[in-house]
Amino acid sequence: MTARPWARRELLEMAALGGAALLAPRWSILRTPGTRAGSRLADSRIDLLLDEPIGTIAPEIYGHFTEHLGGVIYDGVWVGENSKIPNVGGIRKALVDALRPIKPSVMRWPGGCFADSYDWRDGVGPRAQRPRRNNFWSDDPTYRALGNIPAKYDPNSFGTSEFLHFCRLIGAQPYLAANVRSLPALVFTQWLEYCNSPAGSTSWADVRATGGDREPFGVRYWGVGNESWGCGGNFTPEEYASEYRRFGVSAPEFGVDLQFIASGPNGGDLEWTRRFFGAMAERNSLDMVKGWALHHYSSAGDAGADAVAYDERGWYDLVSSCDRMEALITSHWQEMARADRGHRIKLVVDEWGAWHTSAPIVDPSHLFESQSTIRDALVTGLTLDIFHRHADKVAMANVAQLINCIHSLCFSHGDKFCVTPAYHVFAMYAAHQGAQSVRTLVSGPQASWLAKDGKRGAFWGLNGSASRRGRELTLTVTNASLTETRETEVVVRGGTVGAIRMTTLTASSVHDVNSFDQPDAVMPIAADIAARELNGVYRFPPASVTKLAITLDT
Ligand code: AHR
Repeated sequence: MTARPWARRELLEMAALGGAALLAPRWSILRTPGTRAGSRLADSRIDLLLDEPIGTIAPEIYGHFTEHLGGVIYDGVWVGENSKIPNVGGIRKALVDALRPIKPSVMRWPGGCFADSYDWRDGVGPRAQRPRRNNFWSDDPTYRALGNIPAKYDPNSFGTSEFLHFCRLIGAQPYLAANVRSLPALVFTQWLEYCNSPAGSTSWADVRATGGDREPFGVRYWGVGNESWGCGGNFTPEEYASEYRRFGVSAPEFGVDLQFIASGPNGGDLEWTRRFFGAMAERNSLDMVKGWALHHYSSAGDAGADAVAYDERGWYDLVSSCDRMEALITSHWQEMARADRGHRIKLVVDEWGAWHTSAPIVDPSHLFESQSTIRDALVTGLTLDIFHRHADKVAMANVAQLINCIHSLCFSHGDKFCVTPAYHVFAMYAAHQGAQSVRTLVSGPQASWLAKDGKRGAFWGLNGSASRRGRELTLTVTNASLTETRETEVVVRGGTVGAIRMTTLTASSVHDVNSFDQPDAVMPIAADIAARELNGVYRFPPASVTKLAITLDT
């Protein structure tokens, strides 16, 4: 399937020709209210309401997730200090270099389901003496067929200090997930000692200092278990609340403003939310909870399960499934208010992304790895825009997972490395971090397709979000239509538009992918637009993600 083969070529030509070419009428034109629209072709409209703030977009919404699963840690993040692969203290250098520009705010680790099987004490002290353990994922049916491969065992070379060094290198705050299913609260207390107690105070601090880290790490974010209704212990909400209190009460602060995140529901299970909040409130313990975790993976039906070889239905089934995130946020938020009327507790979407069923692309041991196309870029943009529109509710989010797994931002194998279309969306959207989300009204024709049941499906033609930081206004827009360009009037209410820099991510074919051989097959194109020409209608190409970085004159 080929989507508007002209798009990428034209974008490249535009960029190559520079500003003059970009003044051609088909290109972006923003206007302020009261000026005449430059085109009668507009079928869509976006209103940016600067005087209607929603909330500050927590930088933590741009968080990531790394689990001891398949190729994420070993062959992904960690290559080892003695490796020929360029590294910084054992961490893959290409990954560090790629991550810095996208400002990764938070990194979650060590799981996922793995977290509730992990004993952090195995991953500290001299690396040569650390034990090798069975990995939680070793019995996954995909792995069974592969025999006794090394990926089924964890050598523990990458442990707490290595992870915290990784976070420091990329400027991310660590978010550790504690093992509630198979370790007692006391062992969690000792993990806090290892991470946060001053050298010379506790024996675990001394182990840390002997390993070279005299200064405490000051870890703030702690997940108390993971999916505690499932792999994290199969608890009832009341049982989990009781465990949670045990972990919360025994946690020493060491002067750190600890933020504990509770394991939220299985998708739309509002009863889990209601009963956990009820059980905590009954024991006056809700103040132990700072965040309520949500997980949501978008997926397509049979027609779209393959990451690359999907058809029209596979495209729309996947992109339209992103909307579920918005419903999950609003429904659980409403449910939480029963016990937490003032909404002190915020949502933490600590796993999200598109999960395809196709086989690993790089190496069979990379469990749950699949390719990333412009369709995954759309999922990224649609989801981040949802978080912005609910900036008052969502305090953190972690895309799953960073490398070689599910909604990967990067792929690596041996010394090879490349970034995906989803990565480029994170780069384009980074300007939203810490800015004020403003209400953004998008209207236009819906996208429509033939759904599995023979009926016509319908989904947003255009969608997006906007944020403001002083005179800098960022508008991000997804056009989910496979075929239609959207001629769009963009109106800024409450400010006068100055310069604009436009960045567009699209692809010649919706099946194009970045690979080690062709790392730049799907790349954004950026160009400046002169402010004085801004009097008309902007064109958003089909199957695209666009950012307009607008400087306001006033
Ligand atoms: O991200 C992969 C797995 O998906 C995680 O380990 C688990 O929490 C979720 O079900």
